[in-house]
Order: sequence, then structure tokens, then C-alpha cells
Amino acid sequence: MPDLDIRDLTIEYKSGDYVVRAIDRLDLFVSSGELVVMLGPSGCGKTTLLSVLAGILKPQSGSVRFGDTDVSALKERALTEYRRATVGVVFQAFNLIPSLTALENVQVPLLAAKTRPKEARARAVSLLHRVELSDRMAHKPGKLSGGQQQRVAIARALAHDPTLVLADEPTAHLDYIQVEGILRLLRELANSGRTIIVATHDERLLPLADRIVELAPRGAVTARPPEHQVLGAGNVIFRQGDAGDLIYIVWRGEIELVRNLGDGSEQVIDRVTGGRYFGELAPIFGLPRSVTARATMDTVVTGYTPTDFRKQMGSPSMADMIVGADMQPSGEALHSSTLTSQAD
Ligand SMILES: Nc1ncnc2c1ncn2[C@@H]1O[C@H](COP(=O)(O)OP(=O)(O)O)[C@@H](O)[C@H]1O
Ligand SMILES: [Mg+2]
Repeated sequence: MPDLDIRDLTIEYKSGDYVVRAIDRLDLFVSSGELVVMLGPSGCGKTTLLSVLAGILKPQSGSVRFGDTDVSALKERALTEYRRATVGVVFQAFNLIPSLTALENVQVPLLAAKTRPKEARARAVSLLHRVELSDRMAHKPGKLSGGQQQRVAIARALAHDPTLVLADEPTAHLDYIQVEGILRLLRELANSGRTIIVATHDERLLPLADRIVELAPRGAVTARPPEHQVLGAGNVIFRQGDAGDLIYIVWRGEIELVRNLGDGSEQVIDRVTGGRYFGELAPIFGLPRSVTARATMDTVVTGYTPTDFRKQMGSPSMADMIVGADMQPSGEALHSSTLTSQAD
């Protein structure tokens, strides 16, 4: 299975003498079977990059190789063939044809490639079965939920069994239950050896990733330095119901996680001591804090963004983090100079 190798890639839009540099000298290597989530705010160049990977847009400079294919150097016919046979794109706005049924929508790329109608139909049926829409094949997009439409779009993108799957904001406008279905589907695709690139600004997708690539907004700084805090007994780090964007590692001392029961009483859910972490659910899922975090003694913690936290933990997958909530930070992190200087 081919790897994706992006080198020194620059993509610009020109209008008149005004130039927008959407992607600036990007290097990225993605192994086959890997699922990469490209994370970044609106306007940072995600759609632009996917368009180049899909062979729809030409870069200014740099190269994109997928296996033996130098995508950035392909000429007309080879490019058309690459777009048809190698890449499957799931567009942001589904792009389903409203007058066609789900089954017909999935058949479109097959019939366009002159697959025999009977074969095209059989293939579309099996793809819709795969995305669990067997009972919705005769429905038009207008009669399907957002999550179902998105699954039809994924089935259509898989029509030619592409080895590279690109998904642009696949969860826009979907609720959490629908997002889960899409995540599971994309995950399965990667597990079966395809290379999957998902562009999103939706942090709910982070648990899905083998790797997260953060694209910086053009002309702005995304890096957020870790927040070190030294607390005394009774000091609160965050309160139940707050919005939360940091995950905390306790270096020494103890943090109690307390749930307010509504009648004024409290229940201690957990006590987090040195070497453990807490507060991962709110930033990863975009939920409010479900507990209040409060120090019970002199305590030192550091708050990290989810991306920095993964680095700090030696990059476990987000799935492991959520399941194994009392996993220890890596030895390196525990004995880092940050810890020593904070503790002393
Ligand atoms: N067709 C275009 N012409 C000119 N500028 C564009 C065009 N498409 C996108 N851009 C600009 O390129 C930058 C990246 O856009 P885009 O790739 O759509 O970002 P994202 O998908 O991350 O929201 C933005 O500044 C956007 O305004
Ligand atoms: Mg976009």
C-alpha cells in the first residue's frame, strides 16, 4: 500500500496582483493505513490542501507523491485517472444530487467510469450496506438525516475502492451521535489499509486520529504555552459547568474532582495525585466541565492543549487516553526539568 509524501508544498491563490498563500512550505508524511486529522480554524488552508491531494488544484511549488505517483507532475489523462481510481473525496457539503436516490447517487461515479449498470448497482448496494443504509437506498437526500447523507457521500467516495480517502469537514452540522457513526466508519477504512486524511475544525474528531496535524491559521500564532499553576488547599482550577480547553497533569499534591449534586451537597468523584492527569473530556469533546477541580493541599499542575498533552504523554492515541484515565505520564515527562523546577 502506498504512502503519502508531501514535500515543501506551497499553494497560492492569485487574483490581480493580490496573492493569498493558503499553504506555506508544508512537509507531511503519512503511512498507508494511517488516519490523519488535519486540524485548524476556518481559512487555514485545509480545503486547499485536500484539493491539491485530490489532484483538483495545482500547487505553486513542492511535491505530492502517493506511492510511485508524483501527483503534482501528472498531466491531463493520468491526472483524470488518478482522480477517478486512486482518490475518494467526501466533500464538506455532501454534494449529493437531490433528484437521485441514495442508490443512484452512489452509482454515479461508477456509471461515469463506464461500469456496466448491473455491476454498478450491485456495488452501490454493497457500499450502502457497508455504511448501514440498506433500508434507505430508495430515499432521496432530502428524506435523509444529515448523518445519513454524510454516509451516502462516504459510500459514493468509496465507489472505486480508493486507496486515499480525503474527507473535508465530514461532521459539519452533525450531532454527537451521528458523529460517532462517521468516526467508526472512517476508522474502519483506515484499519483496512487505506490512507485517510480528515480536515476539520471539530475537536470531537481528535479521538479518531492516529496523528493530528495542526495547520496554523495564516499570519497568526496557534501555539499556546503550557499553563503552570501552583495552588494551595481549597484553590479551584475550574468549576463544574465551565468551558474547558486544557488537560492537566498533577506534578505533586492532590486535586479532588467534585460533583455538585444540586442540593448544595458535593460528591468527591476522584482524587488525582502526582503523575496522573484529569480534565481530558471537556477539551476533547467540547463539553462543559462535569466536575469542579480543587486542590486539597499544596499542589502543582500544568495545563496543556490536547495536542501538547499528547506530546507530553509520548503520543498515546486519544482513545487510550479516554479509556485509561489513570494511565501514568511517560517517565520522561515525570522527570522533566519543568517538574523539578516547579516542585523546588
Ligand atoms: N478560490 C479562491 N480564491 C482565492 N482565495 C481563496 C480561494 N479559496 C480559498 N482561498 C483563501 O485561501 C485560504 C485558505 O482557504 P481554505 O483552504 O478554504 O481554508 P479552510 O478549508 O481551512 O477553511 C483562505 O484565506 C481563503 O480565503
Ligand atoms: Mg474548508
